[in-house]
Parts: sequence; C-alpha cells; structure tokens
Amino acid sequence: MLAPLTLRIRELACAKNAVILGHSYMTPDVLFGVSDHRGDSLGLSKIARDTDADVIVFCGVRFMGETAKILSPGKTVLLPDPDAGCSLSEAITGADVRRLRVEHPDAAFVCYVNTSAEVKAECDVVCTSANALAIVQAVPQQKVVFLPDRYMAANLRALTTKEIIGYDGRCIVHETFSKDTLMAWRRAHPGARILVHTESPEEVVALADLAGGTGDMVDYVRRSDAREFMLVTECGLSERLKVEFPDRQFIGTCTMCPHMKRVELRKVLQVLEAPRPDQVVTLPEDVRVRAHKAIERMFELTAKAADATRPHSNAGESTPRCD
Ligand code: 13P
Ligand code: SF4
Repeated sequence: MLAPLTLRIRELACAKNAVILGHSYMTPDVLFGVSDHRGDSLGLSKIARDTDADVIVFCGVRFMGETAKILSPGKTVLLPDPDAGCSLSEAITGADVRRLRVEHPDAAFVCYVNTSAEVKAECDVVCTSANALAIVQAVPQQKVVFLPDRYMAANLRALTTKEIIGYDGRCIVHETFSKDTLMAWRRAHPGARILVHTESPEEVVALADLAGGTGDMVDYVRRSDAREFMLVTECGLSERLKVEFPDRQFIGTCTMCPHMKRVELRKVLQVLEAPRPDQVVTLPEDVRVRAHKAIERMFELTAKAADATRPHSNAGESTPRCD
C-alpha cells in the first residue's frame, strides 16, 4: 500500500536533508502536513540563510525561491511550481530601475522583497512588509524611491517625513479590498479587530486596528485578548490561524492568490523525487552577489532598528520533523 502523500514527502525530505519552507498563504495540507517552517517572507528568508539543510524546497512563489538562492548559493533551491509568479514582482524589471536611477540620482532605492533577483541587484536595500518603515527611516537619504508597490508607497508616505517616490505595481489580491466591505464587516462584527496588509489601498489601511505584514498579524493575534479578527489579506493566513488559535474566530471574505495556490502536495512530492531543470533556481552569479548585498543591507539596518527585536521578524513557526 502506498503511504499517504504527506508521509512520502516527509520521508524523502529527511532522506535528502531537505528543509521545506511554507509561506503562510499555502493551503493547510502544505503548511501543516509537510512544512518544517511556516512564516512570513522575512522569517523564511532568515531560515533559508541559516539552515544547514542541503536542499530548500520553497513552498511559495518564484521571488521567494530566488531570495533563498541569493542567501544560500551553495544549496539546491527547489520550487514545486516555477510558474507561481507575483503581480508585484512582475511589475518591474532591472532595466526599469536603471532608468529610474538616472531620473533620481540622489535617492535611496528601496525595493520590496516581492521583486526578482534582477531588480534587487539594482537597488540599495530590500525590505519586507514587516520592516518597510524601519528601512525607509534608516537609509541616510531624504528621498526614497520605493519599488514597486504603489499602495505600500502611499501607506509609507503617511508615516514618514521622507520624500517617497512610488511606482505602479499592485498586488492583485490586496488591491481588491474596499473601504465599503470593511465598514460593512465592522458594523456586523463591532468587537472584531481588523488587521490589514500594507499592500492594500490607503482608505482600507485607514480603517485598520493593525496595518502590517503577515508576521505582524500573527503576532497581533497571539498577543490580543480579542476573540474575533478580520484578516484583510490572502485567505491562507486565516486558514493557518484557525488551526493555530482554535479558540478565536476569523471572519471576512476569502480572497485567494492564484499564484500561491499553484503549490500543491503532489508537486512538492514530484520536486523532491525528481526535480525538472525549470524547478531548480539558478541565478547569474553577478546578479546574485549584488542582490545579496541589498538583502544583507536590510538585515544590517533592521538589526539596528528598535523593532527588529519583534519575535515574528526573526523566525517563522517550526515543526521538528526528522528526528
Ligand atoms: P509577507 O511579507 O507579509 O509575508 O507577504 C508576502 C506577500 O506575498 C504578501 O502578499
Ligand atoms: Fe504577489 Fe499579491 Fe500573490 Fe503576494 S498575494 S504573491 S503580493 S500577487
């Protein structure tokens, strides 16, 4: 009899000294069934950097696998679905950044982690939704070109005196949330806390009890006494938190990222068994080295910033599985 899919994946992962990283937007079978670590993009990037596994299976989208490869060039990084993209990452190219550099020679170039290695290589420093403000504040320049999310740029403008030059990238999930939907939910559930991802439009962020990244939301739920939460983000996070906090209610609409949802257990098994060449992340070395510099700069600047001590910024949640 064939072992269930999850058992076969776990046996293979342990036999190959592979670590499976699951972004919080994965479905619960991937997240709780097979992932060694689950978390936000910053937490998982750090785990990818620090792991002594030989192989990293990144259950997430392409830019996340590239980030893992940038940080761990000696390891094999595998993507269960190499066509899982991201509307933000695809909004901008390295050539676009070079053009903007000519237009804004005196600005710091900060790019969101949801960008390709090629774009990171052209920027001074990377940031995530958990540390975007800290990074913008920490760079010495007064003028900052923030790439590529137009809504994150607008949300940052409200929090800093720095001049923020934006770009026209958008997340196809978070741009769909509206003020009217949130107000209707608030009326129906007056005691609920509203947690909004900063990739959302400003008028949605304005109604939030917390605006931040997925790690900030997990942290908020963990610390809060409230019973009901509306998570204004991809619905994988609500599914994750329903499992981790069974005594709390997670309400609201379910909006799925079609890219994240391409990752399925059968693809995780296949990539561990016999990866196709397109599932193995490779990067030109000069691009990798320059992108690495921009990510290391993020780690340096967040280590200096006071909020870098928040636990969700340092690691994801782990389930030891191989011993
Ligand atoms: P986090 O950085 O909050 O994990 O989010 C990643 C992402 O893709 C948001 O849509
Ligand atoms: Fe990209 Fe948005 Fe999907 Fe996140 S939810 S991977 S930002 S398209």
